[in-house]
Amino acid sequence: MSPEHTQLIDGALRSGPVIPVLVIERTDDAVPLARALLAGGVRVLEVTLRTPNALEVITLLARQVPDAIVAAGTITTPEQWDAAARAGARLGVSPGLTPRLLDAAPHAPMPLLPGVATASELMSAMDAGFSRFKFFPAQQAGGMPMLKAFGGPFPEAVFCPTGGISPDNAPDYLALPNVACVGGSWLAPAEAVREGDWDRITQLAQAAAALLPR
Ligand code: 3PG
Repeated sequence: MSPEHTQLIDGALRSGPVIPVLVIERTDDAVPLARALLAGGVRVLEVTLRTPNALEVITLLARQVPDAIVAAGTITTPEQWDAAARAGARLGVSPGLTPRLLDAAPHAPMPLLPGVATASELMSAMDAGFSRFKFFPAQQAGGMPMLKAFGGPFPEAVFCPTGGISPDNAPDYLALPNVACVGGSWLAPAEAVREGDWDRITQLAQAAAALLPR
């Protein structure tokens, strides 16, 4: 990871306490959803590559919602890393880290926040020059005690825990010295997106943007 890429990741991780994880089924929902989140003060949007239209959505948001920092989530292969960068994503997020992704790191088309859940994965990623990570799935993989334990041998590693995070436990995660922000899907509930309830999403975003460490 080049210093420029690390800087870009840090900018994204520090732009607010919560990165919303988005699964956008209908392309037409993308722009109003992104604007609703921005109106609530949330700028970094993780569009997961879990729907067939995800790259199209990323391109649309990059063009039509320039104030958003669009991240591509659920990157599992170097091909997706490239494709998402070409589509207009500014950074990528992966749920885990494979040898193929590690091999591609020196030619990274955009910064990547790789997912890790164990000390060994963290060590492989640090060997490849990564120092900022998605801790995934956070609650299921050991939660706050695991992050506190990582802080001993790996004091330079910075995390965005994701998976099982809610407005209730986010403030405790945010208080950990090695946590920059958290990720979560609760800002864009599927039914609110389906019904076009953008006001509700703006309210959820406002509440998330105001979360403080406890
Ligand atoms: C993800 O899908 O990347 C995260 O698991 C989101 O997890 P959550 O739905 O528990 O917030």
